[in-house]
Amino acid sequence: MNSFKKYIAFEGIDASGKSTQAKLFCEFLQKTNRSVFCTKEPGGTDISKKIREILLEDTLNPKARFFLFLADRSIHIEAVKAYVKSGYVVSDRCLFSTIAYQSFGEGLELKFVEESNLFAAQGLLPDVTFIIDIDLDTMHKRLTKRDVIESKGDEFFKKVIEGYDYIADKFDNVFKIDGRQPIEQVFEDIIGIWNTI
Ligand SMILES: Nc1ncnc2c1ncn2[C@@H]1O[C@H](COP(=O)(O)OP(=O)(O)OP(=O)(O)O)[C@@H](O)[C@H]1O
Ligand SMILES: [Mg+2]
Repeated sequence: MNSFKKYIAFEGIDASGKSTQAKLFCEFLQKTNRSVFCTKEPGGTDISKKIREILLEDTLNPKARFFLFLADRSIHIEAVKAYVKSGYVVSDRCLFSTIAYQSFGEGLELKFVEESNLFAAQGLLPDVTFIIDIDLDTMHKRLTKRDVIESKGDEFFKKVIEGYDYIADKFDNVFKIDGRQPIEQVFEDIIGIWNTI
């Protein structure tokens, strides 16, 4: 097992295909009998499920949401740390979502968000992150298909995409994948990168 590629995260805007690709990637690792903890943020632990319920309350303001995400992260990271000792962790979203959504999207100060994120995550960053990149037209088509009414407007998601671009530029082990392609091709691109790192 390559000890540098054990904690893998999938990121991207709403409906970009994170859950689809995280599931395929879990199955890919499980096929080779590797021990894999398939998880997500928020909502990877029992307490996370309760936090997730509060996050759905529409009376929350951006700061309250931010601290709830951090509370969730600080609990979830304990499970991540335990699993990476003996196997793989595949996470549908991670601390990068908070930079993209809460800082770039909702305007909370970047340095504070980055430092608090690291504090909550005990400094543990994913070894590899795949950002599934789609444009807003693709997002709207997929959300319509799922019959979900997205309350945030295009301006918000443009800023979130900028946030993901910032993350991809800042970290060497973060890879942007063209998520507008068919599901199989997106996955092939992910495996292509996985095999070269
Ligand atoms: N490459 C793709 N091409 C076409 N449709 C896709 C592709 N990837 C995912 N989809 C479809 O788009 C929808 C959203 O996919 P998925 O749930 O994986 O996205 P997500 O990023 O996890 O969304 P969310 O942010 O809401 O959790 C699903 O109906 C899925 O089947
Ligand atoms: Mg999802």
